[in-house]
Formats: sequence, structure tokens, C-alpha cells
Amino acid sequence: MGKDVIIACDFDSAEKTFAFLDKFTGRKPFVKIGMELYYAEGPSIVKEIKKRGHKIFLDLKLHDIPNTVKKSMAVLSRLDVDMTNLHAAGTKRMMAAAIEGLTREDGTRPMLIAVTQLTSTDEETMKADLLINEPIDKVVMHYAHNAMEAGLDGVVCSPLEAGKVHDTCGKNFVTVTPGVRFADGDIGDQKRVMTPAEAKKIGSDYIVVGRPITAAEDPVAAYERCVREFCD
Ligand code: C5P
Repeated sequence: MGKDVIIACDFDSAEKTFAFLDKFTGRKPFVKIGMELYYAEGPSIVKEIKKRGHKIFLDLKLHDIPNTVKKSMAVLSRLDVDMTNLHAAGTKRMMAAAIEGLTREDGTRPMLIAVTQLTSTDEETMKADLLINEPIDKVVMHYAHNAMEAGLDGVVCSPLEAGKVHDTCGKNFVTVTPGVRFADGDIGDQKRVMTPAEAKKIGSDYIVVGRPITAAEDPVAAYERCVREFCD
């Protein structure tokens, strides 16, 4: 599996994004474009970053009726990103429709991964707001299993769940894990964090790292440190 560091480019303009990416004159990092940047700049930001030679994870977390998701995925597939995602809560039917939409005429498609439960949702909120009365761990593994059955490639999950996801869905089922911090760094608003080295040990396939790189004094050095700790 890949084993790569994905930088969360959580900027609100193309200008800020390019000022950041211009610092990387050597290895071109795998980049995550989320809702903030995509809604600010539209598909052109994806094309521009792609043209600069970066791999792209388009993190738009689709969740709608199967037909709408299928058609939207067909449009996103034309952007030629490397990875995109949706909410597993949209059901297996929605996920299977997404795969159909994403698959190009020649049979190729970007990797598709599912969000199980957002890490901002804890068990208490899940019970109170969503009326789901099962332990959150069980819900996450159930959603991951649904994603696998629908033909998806993996899930976004907390690094603490990555090992269990692999036990449940097999080692080839990809785990993409945010919530990564350096041992000597600030944890900010993330609660359950791991270092890149710990994420590697537990079997994450990709780590998504935002502020520890984007807000670092030397972002390139911070990125290279992540790569050293996680990939080497
Ligand atoms: O700055 P930081 O390293 O916390 O950024 C993590 C990135 O991963 C952000 O883009 C955040 O939205 C995303 N993410 C997350 N937790 C999830 C899913 C995505 O932190 N469960």
C-alpha cells in the first residue's frame, strides 16, 4: 500500500495555497483539498495543483441520494484526482452508486474512501443527536465493513482505529488518518493524536497532516520530518 504523507491545504484562497506550495522545490507532496479551498476557488484549483505535479485527495465528503452522488462523482472523476471521499452514513447503495459514477470508461477511477463517524462526534452525541445506541467503536467498524462491501478502497479514521479497521476489513483496505502531531508539538483542537511514527507502527496507510506542517516556521522541514518518521 501507498504509505504517504498528505498535507491538508486548509487555506481560503489559491493565492495562499500557491505561496505555501511554492516552498516545495524538491519532492512534490500529496495534497488534500477540502471544502474550504474547493468552495473558494472551484475546480480550477484542483486542475492547477494537478498541473504542478501533486497527487490530490479531494475531501468533499459527499452524502446525498444515490443518483445525485453517482452523477456528482462522474463530474469529479473528470478532474483526475487520486483520491476522494463520501460519508458511509449515506448507505451501501449510495456508496456503490458513487463507485459507478467515479469509474471512467476505461475502467480506471480515483481511490474512494469513506468517512465512518466524524472524529468530532463522540459516543454521547451519537446517542443523543443520531439515536444510535451502539458503542462508537462498533459503529465505526460496521460502517467500514459496509464501505468494503460496497467496493470502496478504505476509510478515513482516527489513527487509534486503524489497526482494528485492518483486522475487520483486511490489510489491503486503506486507512487514511488525520489527528497527527509531532511528539514535541502543539495538539491544537485535535483530541486523540498520534505521532507519525506511532501511526506507522499501528498500520496507517496515509497520514493527513495540516497545521503541524502549514503553520510550521519551516513547512518543508516539517513535511520532511513527517516523511522520515512515517514512510522510511
Ligand atoms: O491541522 P490538522 O493536522 O488538525 O488537520 C487535519 C485535517 O484532517 C483537517 O483538514 C481536518 O479537517 C481533517 N480531518 C480531521 N478529522 C477527521 C477528518 C478529517 O482532522 N475525522
